[in-house]
Amino acid sequence: MTYKQEVIDFYNARTNYDNDATFNRAITLFDYATPFPGQSVLDVATGTGNIAIEAAKKVGTSGSVIGIDIATELLKIAQQKIQAENLSNIELIEVDAQIYEPESNQFDAIYCSYALVLFPNIPTILGNWYRFLKSSGFIAFTCSSEDSYSALSIVEACAKHGITLPNLHEPLGTPERIQYLLTQAKFNQIEIHSRQLGTYLCLEKAQSRWNGQFWLHIDNPLRELKPEKISRIKASYDDKIAALETEEGVWHEELIYYVVARKV
Ligand SMILES: C[S@@+](CC[C@H](N)C(=O)[O-])C[C@H]1O[C@@H](n2cnc3c(N)ncnc32)[C@H](O)[C@@H]1O
Repeated sequence: MTYKQEVIDFYNARTNYDNDATFNRAITLFDYATPFPGQSVLDVATGTGNIAIEAAKKVGTSGSVIGIDIATELLKIAQQKIQAENLSNIELIEVDAQIYEPESNQFDAIYCSYALVLFPNIPTILGNWYRFLKSSGFIAFTCSSEDSYSALSIVEACAKHGITLPNLHEPLGTPERIQYLLTQAKFNQIEIHSRQLGTYLCLEKAQSRWNGQFWLHIDNPLRELKPEKISRIKASYDDKIAALETEEGVWHEELIYYVVARKV
């Protein structure tokens, strides 16, 4: 199965995606950058449309929003929510964000919540967004620290068994790397706001957060491994997590960067 199909299947299966946490963590982006009435907005990887719907309310009927995604089932949910809210200024398009090619200088704002790391070529995507923006437009996206979701413990457990696992959160996993990639793509006035959404989990729950196999990354070596090897990696992961246990439980990092950058 191709990486793209794996992503599509994974998100199509998440028809229970919407809850207070997924809604709030997405629309927090508007705390840092919000469109004005009459503006034109693109929501990349809109999923169930949380950002697109909020943006449509902000730009009003004189503005417009396009939401794009590859997961048909999530787009269906987005469409139902749009109809329930009676919004006529949102268009949903089922398309891979990596090949989506609107006219240049079309959007005042481009949002991308919890999805940029899923695109294998982040510099190309950022370059495209710069082109799609009108001058003085902005992009607003989220990404996570490289150690969020116990990613480093997973990578280390794999390394112990000779497997080099690329970390999905590595390319945008520090403020310095975010700043570098945005500067390379010619963006200015870069703002990076951190929010810690992590919690302490009981040991059992922390260990159950990874099954030893699941890893959404184009270069995922775990796909090819035999079940016995996966079990050994999982056991090493469980040991690593157990070693992190304190009286409060195991810290489960979820450090989110809310990033805004402008085309000036
Ligand atoms: C974690 S969800 C985020 C959804 C939404 N932005 C939010 O924050 O509520 C990630 C989304 O990225 C979409 N996605 C992943 N790769 C994509 C691609 N190449 N093109 C378009 N959408 C993609 C998935 O289908 C999924 O809807």
